[in-house]
Amino acid sequence: MLILAIETSCDETAAAVVQDGNEALSSIVLSQVDEHRLYGGVVPEIASRRHAEGIVQVTQQALEEAGATLSEVDAVAVTHAPGLIGALLVGVNFAKGLCLASNKPLVAVHHIRGHIAANYLAHKDLEPPFLCLVASGGHSHIYEVLSHTDFRLIGRTRDDAAGEAFDKAARIMGFGYPGGIAIDSAAKSGNPNAYRLPRPKLDSPYDMSFSGLKTAVVNLVHNERQKGCEITTEDLAASFQTAVCEILTARLFAAARDLGYDKIVCAGGVCANSQLRRMLGDESAKINAKLYVPPLALCADNAAMIGAQAYYEYMQGHVAGMELNAYASLAI
Ligand code: KG4
Ligand code: ZN
Repeated sequence: MLILAIETSCDETAAAVVQDGNEALSSIVLSQVDEHRLYGGVVPEIASRRHAEGIVQVTQQALEEAGATLSEVDAVAVTHAPGLIGALLVGVNFAKGLCLASNKPLVAVHHIRGHIAANYLAHKDLEPPFLCLVASGGHSHIYEVLSHTDFRLIGRTRDDAAGEAFDKAARIMGFGYPGGIAIDSAAKSGNPNAYRLPRPKLDSPYDMSFSGLKTAVVNLVHNERQKGCEITTEDLAASFQTAVCEILTARLFAAARDLGYDKIVCAGGVCANSQLRRMLGDESAKINAKLYVPPLALCADNAAMIGAQAYYEYMQGHVAGMELNAYASLAI
């Protein structure tokens, strides 16, 4: 089954053609990051406009690279939630237009389900049930993935998402947007014990919190500057990154131990982080669990992951009508 998938939930205009839920025949991502960098973050209105300008060409390219025509695809899939509402609407309306013009079924895909499904493209042997950490710019959630379309939320951030904390900490450290990758590379030459940063104490064993950590970094930088001292950016990056990775890893593996999972999956942009990947690997080895992490290109936003999830949605009979709307936030 061939699915043409469209993703426009944030600042990447993406289209892909995916076969049978686990093979990407093409995956085109047009990033707007250079433009948003000028403003230190994603500007929603600019994102919507750039999606509208780029979506036709990106979709044509995805079909061409896959060697397919619109009439040859079996369904059109689109991310309808969660994300920037104006950005999502561009993709949803475009996908509806394609379906109306070609008489194809429309499949609505939740962005986070898509991030998880990136792993089906990368690891053909992966089947639910498994335990999954989703860590992105907007999410830090732990899910039990009971089947391809059945999810149970068991832990989540109480405030900022991990990626949001990376981006905000990066800004105060003087890195541009997006900050995660800059902190990752600076941390490589830093001392992770140089600065003492807090770890949250929460009553729930699987919930997380990153805003106290972010505030501690902001206060530390301001205090040092007021004293006329300079911080060592590499050391602060390493100390901060270690704290984030420890929080994510501790919560995920507490859940794995308690619930008895030996299949652990990671998804979302923050899973590109080199220290997190290392720590997840070490912890998995300790409990003899198998770890599945997507390759870097599939951690960030793309449409191939949407096409992968759409296959399973379609197989469950989840087909959307022309009244499909977009939602800025929606439970998985
Ligand atoms: O999944 P994603 O591409 O978009 C959302 O759905 O949010 O995640 C983007 C987030 C950003 O906050 C970015 O700073 C972070 O992922 N990120 C990283 C790394 N690469 C991207 N965070 C830490 N280390 C990285 N190497
Ligand atoms: Zn995402």
